[in-house]
Amino acid sequence: MGRRMLFGRLLDASMTTEEMDPRSIEGGLLEPEEQAVAGAVARRIDQFTAGRVCARRALARLGVDPQIPILAGEDRVPIWPDGFVGSITHTDSWCAAAVARASEVRGIGIDLEPATPLKESLVTRICTSTERQWLSDASEPGLLAKVIFSAKEAVYKCQYPLTREFLGFHAVTLHLGDGLFTAVFQQDVADFRRGDRIFGRYIIEDGVVATACALGGA
Ligand SMILES: CC(C)(COP(=O)(O)OP(=O)(O)OC[C@H]1O[C@@H](n2cnc3c(N)ncnc32)[C@H](O)[C@@H]1OP(=O)(O)O)[C@@H](O)C(=O)NCCC(=O)NCCS
Repeated sequence: MGRRMLFGRLLDASMTTEEMDPRSIEGGLLEPEEQAVAGAVARRIDQFTAGRVCARRALARLGVDPQIPILAGEDRVPIWPDGFVGSITHTDSWCAAAVARASEVRGIGIDLEPATPLKESLVTRICTSTERQWLSDASEPGLLAKVIFSAKEAVYKCQYPLTREFLGFHAVTLHLGDGLFTAVFQQDVADFRRGDRIFGRYIIEDGVVATACALGGA
């Protein structure tokens, strides 16, 4: 199988995770899901399929019928079965889904990115001045900027189903520790207030950055 599971180590036991290589998918799409990627390029179909297979497998471990399709809203956000929350991410080499009961977890966000430095030309767009200041003293600023980017994507996916709001990359400031991150809202967003925090974890392993965060139960 090669790569060790990443997200099971990043998320606590209230969340169920499944991961696979999208180049060797063990399963296929359900018919209603096929329409979502009809006409897409092969790479997109492979990644979408791997995401759906992971998501349905993870839900099955929580007792959900694996024949229930995971469709997508117009905004591309997955529509989870009633009573469940989740998140999906993919790259060319790895794909994952994480799900949980909505009674235990309010939101999940996961993200994968290639473990390469963030392009210099993107750093100002992605990173706040506080983050750039911190990066200027770091030993691998480009790679850590990529971790910040990935963590922001995970935070975005975690909050979106609750707020339905688009967030710019400067809407939160990231503080990275050793394998841990805290995202601090810089502005009010729906029920979130400036200063509210979302906690997460990250790993850099086997050529990918993996980030994950969750909002605890009500
Ligand atoms: C939507 C977005 C987060 C996807 O991230 P990505 O790194 O490009 O791609 P990933 O493979 O990791 O994730 C894609 C999956 O995210 C999920 N997704 C898409 N839109 C979503 C949303 N609004 N909310 C939650 N999940 C979403 C989908 O499951 C999608 O896969 P699928 O289409 O196969 O189902 C990103 O493209 C985006 O639009 N970001 C908005 C700006 C932002 O991140 N701001 C940060 C503020 S802190």
